[in-house]
Formats: sequence, C-alpha cells, structure tokens
Amino acid sequence: MSKGKVIVTGGAGFIGSHTVVELEAAGYEPVIVDDFSNSDRRVLAGLERICGREIVCHEVDCADPAAVRVVFEREGAIRGAIHFAASKAVGESVQIPLRYYKNNLGSLITLLELMAEFEVTDLVFSSSCTVYGQPDALPVTEETPMQAAESPYGYTKQVCESIIGDVVRAQGPLRAVVLRYFNPIGAHPSAAIGELPLGTPDNLVPFITQSAAGLRGPLTVFGDDYATPDGSCVRDYIHVVDLAKAHVKSLDWLGGRGTEPQAEIFNVGTGRGASVLEAIAAFESISGRKLDYSIGARRAGDIEQIFADVHKVESELGWKAEFGIEDAMRDAWNWQLELKA
Ligand code: UD1
Repeated sequence: MSKGKVIVTGGAGFIGSHTVVELEAAGYEPVIVDDFSNSDRRVLAGLERICGREIVCHEVDCADPAAVRVVFEREGAIRGAIHFAASKAVGESVQIPLRYYKNNLGSLITLLELMAEFEVTDLVFSSSCTVYGQPDALPVTEETPMQAAESPYGYTKQVCESIIGDVVRAQGPLRAVVLRYFNPIGAHPSAAIGELPLGTPDNLVPFITQSAAGLRGPLTVFGDDYATPDGSCVRDYIHVVDLAKAHVKSLDWLGGRGTEPQAEIFNVGTGRGASVLEAIAAFESISGRKLDYSIGARRAGDIEQIFADVHKVESELGWKAEFGIEDAMRDAWNWQLELKA
C-alpha cells in the first residue's frame, strides 16, 4: 500500500533525483516539481529505468505561487513535501545575490503557504553545513552556533531555517525536519542517474571525474597550506544514496510523531573528515587512473575543515551512513563513464 504522495521540489536535481528513487523504494509516491533551470530532462529517463515506472513531474517554478497551487490542486491528498529547489553555487550567489534571495526564499515561502492552505503538515528541508561557517570546534553538533554567512547562498539557508522555525512557533501545524548536509557526492550504483553539472563544475568530485574523463584540464587543489594533516581542506563527503535515505527516514519519523508543531535539525554526514588529497587518492585507487592535478592558491571563502557530529541523527532518526568515500568515488566514476558512452 502506498504511504502517500510526496511533493519533491527540485526532484530532478542531483540530491532530489536520488531521493525520488529511495522514496519510491520505501513505498511513497514521489511527485517532482522542478523548472529544470539547473537540471536536465535526461534524469527522468534514468528515474524510469530504476523505478520501473514513469515518475510524475510538473515543470513549474517553485517560487511561482499560482503554478504551484495548480500542482497541489491536481495531486489531491499529499502526505508531505521535501524541499530541495534552490540555487546553490556559492560564488554565483556573491555575483547575483538578488536571484538567490528571490529563488531560495521565494520557493520556501510559496511552499509553506500552500502547505498550510492544503493542510499538508510534514516538511523535510534541504539545508547545509554552510550555516556553521568555520566552526571553532570540530566535529560540529547541531548546537554549534552559526557564524555570519560567508555568502548570500549560505545566508539564504540560515534565513530559510529561521523561517521554518518561526512558522512552527507561530501558526503550526507544521512539522519539519531540517537536514544539514555535509558534502554530497557519488551517484546511483546503477549509473542511471548522477550529478549533471551545467558548465564547468565548481564542486570537487564532478571536476575530478570530468578531468579524468578528458573533458576538463587538470584539477587545481585549492591550497595545501591549511592547518590540516596534509595541508589541504577537510570535508565530510557523504554518498548521495545515503543522504537520500535520510530524507525517507525523516518522513517516516515525522509520521510517527504526534500532531505537535515542531522543527528538528539533524546533521547528515559520515562523521569523518577527508582532505582534498585523500579524496584524490580514493578516486585514483578505485579508478586505477592517475589524476593530473597541481596545487594552486586557496579559494576565497573556503572553510579550512568541517565534519559532522552524527550522534543525533543516528540515535534519534535511526539513520547512519553506509557507504564510504571510495564507494562514492566508484559510483561517481561509473556515472561519468556512462555519460561518455
Ligand atoms: C560548498 C558549500 C556547501 C554547498 C556546496 C554546493 C560551503 C562551506 N560549502 O561546499 O554548503 O552546499 O558547495 O555547491 O560553503 N576543491 C579543489 N579544487 C576544485 C574544487 C574544489 O581543491 O576544483 C576543494 C575545495 O577547496 C574544498 C573541497 O574541494 O576544500 C570541496 O569543495 P566543493 O566540492 O566545492 O564543496 P564545498 O565548497 O565544501
């Protein structure tokens, strides 16, 4: 029996599409809402291959209240919503801040208004470890104080979290889980879906796989003079399939709560930090290829190191990362090879 329809805004994107697969596998009925402004229609064919059926997709801008209302009207009873739709390039957000404020705040406000109107209570929100800035102590727990945001993108995540908290306190009956992702990487093990960055990737792993595939020049490692064991920055790289499963767990968990309005925040990471040089070594070991790279200057705005304390998500949500960085690199590489084929 179906556990009910779940609106997945940004469901054609990298994390959204993997979450659609896990929702379907867990017995939910995902309904994608995406305007394809930063995603590719090819993902729908990949989803159909994995799920064995066509996934419903509404091509709609999530910040457009009239268009999103039509989705709510057409779909009828909706069990909950997972909100991914947002712009996410840190550097671009510095160049065009208003687009970030409009998209990221506008889409959340639109969704919350319609959820209230159509009496949909359960929300899972896609946040980021960027809200912590450069923390004073590691690993970061959910109680670690936020620092001033380094970019308009980071600021939108902080404000969106506040908006959700305010709505829960003021009006209910919203019940929300805020997931603070660390660094999602990898692809579905079937190689039917994965990351499809438009243009030159800003993020490390798609750049590595594209460079190894001959689509880009050598990788530049942004700095090797940080106060970390090997001098390169440290991040908590999490396999996108593990991350997708955290969303399903969140919906299940909300379903088992009472009707009290609430907002709960969870870190979603592996709890282990890996440096850029370790990430490169992991890629080389699973691909059997030497990566061409050089050490360059630090990238403006980069945080030296951050990784998650995962006690809360493990004990309260019952979720734990199952894959390691090598699994994620293997799946990202297989996906890259599939794209080239
Ligand atoms: C950033 C944001 C994160 C956001 C994500 C999505 C921060 C702290 N983090 O993650 O919130 O969700 O982008 O886009 O704002 N690197 C290289 N060479 C490259 C590319 C990256 O050395 O060509 C290094 C970076 O210096 C960094 C690591 O690889 O140390 C990971 O970088 P990246 O994949 O861009 O992610 P973050 O910047 O950590």
